[in-house]
Amino acid sequence: MKAISIFNNKGGVGKTTLLCNLASYMLKRLGKKRLVIDADPQCNTTTYALDEEQFFNVYYEPTEFTIADVIPPLEDGNGYITQFKGIDS
Ligand SMILES: Nc1ncnc2c1ncn2[C@@H]1O[C@H](COP(=O)(O)OP(=O)(O)OP(=O)(O)O)[C@@H](O)[C@H]1O
Ligand SMILES: [Mg+2]
Repeated sequence: MKAISIFNNKGGVGKTTLLCNLASYMLKRLGKKRLVIDADPQCNTTTYALDEEQFFNVYYEPTEFTIADVIPPLEDGNGYITQFKGIDS
């Protein structure tokens, strides 16, 4: 597995846009599996990647797995969760 990070100290320079298009290209043109993790409180990647219903379920309903399910067990010293449910988009 390879990890790709897109980093730039400056805000608003296209990091999220590049990430979303790169992930889309990898799936649609290269046929590569990819996992995108949106850890940014702005949730821009989530809004780009999901349709309206999926976004509503993630953002407003606690029925979908989000990064918020990962952090509390780590804070409590219980390690990583063992079940991970991603969202296909
Ligand atoms: N290649 C491009 N050409 C023109 N506009 C672009 C390009 N890439 C991104 N943008 C626009 O620039 C704005 C900022 O892009 P984006 O949100 O990807 O930046 P960011 O670096 O992730 O910002 P932040 O630091 O706030 O997370 C958006 O409105 C986006 O549509
Ligand atoms: Mg961004």
